[in-house]
Amino acid sequence: MEIKQVGVVGCGLMGHGIVQVAAQAGRSVVALETEQAFLDKGLGRIRKSLTKLAERSVAKKGVPEAEAKAQADAAFARIQGTTNEADLADCDLVIEAILENLDAKKALFEKLGGLCKPETIFASNTSSFPIGEMAAASGRPAHFIGLHFFNPVQLMRLVEVVRTDDTDPEVVAAGRAFGEAVGKSPVTCKDTPGFIVNRLLVPYMSQAFLMLERGDASKEDIDTAMQLGTGYPMGPITLTDYVGLDTTLSILEGWVDRFPDEPAFVIPELLRQKVSEGKLGRKTGEGFYRWDGDKKVG
Ligand code: CAA
Repeated sequence: MEIKQVGVVGCGLMGHGIVQVAAQAGRSVVALETEQAFLDKGLGRIRKSLTKLAERSVAKKGVPEAEAKAQADAAFARIQGTTNEADLADCDLVIEAILENLDAKKALFEKLGGLCKPETIFASNTSSFPIGEMAAASGRPAHFIGLHFFNPVQLMRLVEVVRTDDTDPEVVAAGRAFGEAVGKSPVTCKDTPGFIVNRLLVPYMSQAFLMLERGDASKEDIDTAMQLGTGYPMGPITLTDYVGLDTTLSILEGWVDRFPDEPAFVIPELLRQKVSEGKLGRKTGEGFYRWDGDKKVG
């Protein structure tokens, strides 16, 4: 199950990073978007990130400038952007990274099941939806895994490889090998809500908002406490701004809906309120903090 050609559906926040790391690892990549404008935006982000990483390897690792630039150019050249689903037909692995909407994901995999060659492995980058439901929709559950990357994909070193009861162990092994090939450490997990990271991380974020609601501590002190007290690179409130308040809320809403008796899944009112005000975090320039691009400014 050698993975030479990779398809990525969705070239947004997560998808563009997955496209990039696969291309950097020498795979040819088909990046699919619904509209040319979305594709152009995703490819522009990849260009910018490759340039940034090339600059860093010159400055920090002493790589000659011409070599770093040639590597970035070669990675970019391995990406074929398209708006035509049929271009995914011959891919060895297709990773879905579209919006978090289960019906849309199931419809996509149903279509891909009829389109791609029989050996193609399907993977979803979903943060919180059941892999088994998408696997069933694809018509090839043995060839289906979760491949959950972390934001920003270019820098975060983990990938969760999620298996269902129907996944062929060789497909799990191929997913892990692909994760390693793109420079990540794979961990394997059953098809459970939130897998490993989000099952722990999202309730932790919720508890931080509940603390804020109760007035136990300021957002700055909660963040500083978790950064300095546990060595996390960002505190929970900053991290929610970074990930997106809407994304966090939608994960929680899905879980509360499906697992009403699970006490760890609670939706803080403060989170709902910010989302209803359109304060979604870094992406809208304001969440709990204010942002200028990737930098927190207040
Ligand atoms: N591509 C290339 N370079 C990038 C980049 C990207 N996408 N993003 C940041 N960089 C660069 C920066 O430009 C910077 O470069 P210089 O050192 O040359 O200035 C460098 O990487 C370091 O970045 P920062 O200075 O911004 O700060 P940092 O050292 O704190 O690193 C971080 C940034 C890696 C994001 C770090 O803060 C971190 O690990 N934060 C936690 C992120 C996290 O927990 N992610 C998981 C979210 S949960 C999730 O994804 C799951 C889900 O399903 C919701």
